[in-house]
Amino acid sequence: MSTSTPAILEMVEIEKHFGAVIALAGVSIAVYPGECHCLLGDNGAGKSTFIKTMSGVHKPTKGKMLISGKEVTFQSPRDAMEAGIATVYQDLAMIPLMSVTRNFWMGREPRKGIWPFKSLDFDKANAVTMTEMSKMGINLREPNQAVGTLSGGERQTVAIARAVYFGAKVLILDEPTSALGVRQTSNVLATIDKVRKSGIGVVFITHNVRHALAVGDRFTVLNRGRTLGTALKGEIRADELQDLMAGGRELADLSASLGGTI
Ligand SMILES: Nc1ncnc2c1ncn2[C@@H]1O[C@H](COP(=O)(O)OP(=O)(O)O)[C@@H](O)[C@H]1O
Ligand SMILES: [Mg+2]
Repeated sequence: MSTSTPAILEMVEIEKHFGAVIALAGVSIAVYPGECHCLLGDNGAGKSTFIKTMSGVHKPTKGKMLISGKEVTFQSPRDAMEAGIATVYQDLAMIPLMSVTRNFWMGREPRKGIWPFKSLDFDKANAVTMTEMSKMGINLREPNQAVGTLSGGERQTVAIARAVYFGAKVLILDEPTSALGVRQTSNVLATIDKVRKSGIGVVFITHNVRHALAVGDRFTVLNRGRTLGTALKGEIRADELQDLMAGGRELADLSASLGGTI
């Protein structure tokens, strides 16, 4: 981790209003290559709205976005993808009955031969899928295995491996561990660690402080559309993050009324 490395992605004073609802009231973060930036916050804090702004789904009401120092505006998710911002949503866009390979390529399969005899190169598609999955620590039985037979964590990994293979510079993961058990969570965290070490900037959304601390380099807590800034690894403890997420005082009051049990 080095502060002299320029940010790949900067979100500056982002506001997002939905009519009278102010979902984001001026949120700034910077994402650096090879780092995992954790975005923490309770339900309704504005996490999904914030990453949808990064990924071109929403246009910010105010604020600016910079990629490698240059200001950008996205008209659509496609614009964001072309700029190297890949998003893995909780409800993965995958077709359970189709093979891992088909889900990995999703219509972008490699081709072989010379026009007009071009055809899909299934051997190459299968080989790349097996290799990319194994780089992420998952050894598929065979590439034709249906995605529906994989565990939740393995499906997340297919989506992550796909984004990495197709050249993501920034990988955004929206609550990838929230529906998983302990073992699968640790697999997904290990995957995040591998992606980060490959030089990609990861934005990891979670409301689990322990998951964040396991892989995070920077931590930004959102609370009702606002943030109190970003803490670096080693600068903040689990209980402090938890407190910020819950809005500090409210949690202390609740804890007192329950006899200090939380
Ligand atoms: N499309 C929308 N229209 C109106 N309000 C929205 C919309 N999307 C989100 N919100 C509101 O913005 C706030 C933040 O929501 P969200 O970003 O989904 O939070 P989180 O992902 O942290 O749970 C909530 O009050 C939510 O109701
Ligand atoms: Mg959300």
